[in-house]
Amino acid sequence: MNHQDILSFIEQHKEQWLEELNDLLRIPSISADPKYKDDVKRAAEKVKELLLQAGVDKAEVCPTAGHPVVYAEKTINPDAPTVIVYGHYDVQPADPLELWHSPPFEPVIKKTDIHPQGAIFARGACDDKGQTMMHINALQLMNQLNTLKCNVKFMIEGEEEVGSAHLADWIRENKHRLKGDVILISDTSILANDTPSIDVGLRGLAYMEVEVTGPNRDLHSGVYGGAVANPINILCKMIASCHDENNHITIPGFYDDVVELTEEERKELNKAPFNEEAYKKDLGIKEVWGEKGYTVLERTGIRPTLDVNGIWGGYIGEGAKTVLPSKAYAKISMRLVPNQSSDKIARLFQNYFESIAPACVQVKVTAHHGGEPVVVSTKSEGFLAASKAMEKTFGKKPIPTRGGGSIPIVALFKKELGLDSILMGFGLDTDALHSPNEHYGLFNFFKGIETIPFFYEYYYELKKGGK
Ligand code: BES
Ligand code: MN
Ligand code: MN
Repeated sequence: MNHQDILSFIEQHKEQWLEELNDLLRIPSISADPKYKDDVKRAAEKVKELLLQAGVDKAEVCPTAGHPVVYAEKTINPDAPTVIVYGHYDVQPADPLELWHSPPFEPVIKKTDIHPQGAIFARGACDDKGQTMMHINALQLMNQLNTLKCNVKFMIEGEEEVGSAHLADWIRENKHRLKGDVILISDTSILANDTPSIDVGLRGLAYMEVEVTGPNRDLHSGVYGGAVANPINILCKMIASCHDENNHITIPGFYDDVVELTEEERKELNKAPFNEEAYKKDLGIKEVWGEKGYTVLERTGIRPTLDVNGIWGGYIGEGAKTVLPSKAYAKISMRLVPNQSSDKIARLFQNYFESIAPACVQVKVTAHHGGEPVVVSTKSEGFLAASKAMEKTFGKKPIPTRGGGSIPIVALFKKELGLDSILMGFGLDTDALHSPNEHYGLFNFFKGIETIPFFYEYYYELKKGGK
């Protein structure tokens, strides 16, 4: 496979590929909001169309009880290894809209300090439409340059951002079609554009909602205030008591199953370049925060967390209203690390939250979606192929890192299909995923398209005879 041919092909197709990505980015495929159901479907149809155009043998929009899964196949040789590409075409809600400098579903290219060659600004640009499209474009490239030696299956879902609830069922029902050797995913970050890395871990998730009820109706805060518990005050106190003075989580049993890394492993993990000053400056914070005794890389990579994602109740309209509210609510998520179990942690949280509620309020705790943490071996053919491919195109060996985010379906791929996932992402943590002004660097987009063909090449070589 000739590197120069790949670069020339990319050069010739840049405009076309950006236009196609923009078409996909214009569709507001927000999976969380039922208002956008038809748009989500439209995005699935668009992905199918782009897959067919790139040269797959067949592609389908498969309905599920939720949003559809787009499935496609390209068979080269039944005896060749099969790579299953996973990605998602759904996106997070775009709000708060007023903080976007350009509308979230009208992609524009702008230069930034980190992306001097320009970046596409739109919801989903990086997470994960841009990164998914790299795989579709790379397939077109390999097809037309006649370099593809592996079979490829695509599984692009529409519910990743809401917990992949129906993809699990779909996988179980479609096991017969999902025979393959490895799963390849671009939905994570590299450390920097001149510092390639591959995530070898993802955190799990337990996502809870709590409702605290005080009096049976909203009250005059003067007439009753002082004698009746305010559920917002109580909820704040309960949330505050989830961490101790060392920012350690206080839920009994919370850390029981946490795998502690050896000193050696921690040293290795902290070798990854990390500039705390730049980190603070980028976020506009004076100081970092977190569990005592751990570095920032450890706090986001190998330690579990508990965070409030949203909290509401009482009066939040214009001006002031003196009210002692009846109810207070919060959405609370916990990021989990090996070997914590999402169900067990959800149970421990519920027990704890109920146990610390004073008798003056009632507490209702419900669990939303969850997901299990994963670790990826650095010894597998898949990891080695990804590492070699990145080394080839970045000119540097990628550093194995632990990603702080979650892709809950990855643990399920292992459980249901027995397959490892390779997290060869090309985004940057600073690309504002889930935030206003999400963007994806053009450098990253094209570097991904350049790297993917080498993954297939090296994976085929490493697998030869060993299939
Ligand atoms: N692509 C992200 C996960 C990610 C981002 C991993 C960066 C590592 C580095 C994914 O789309 C995501 O946002 N996942 C959710 C999962 C949840 C909605 C079940 C997350 O992590 O919050
Ligand atoms: Mn994603
Ligand atoms: Mn996401």
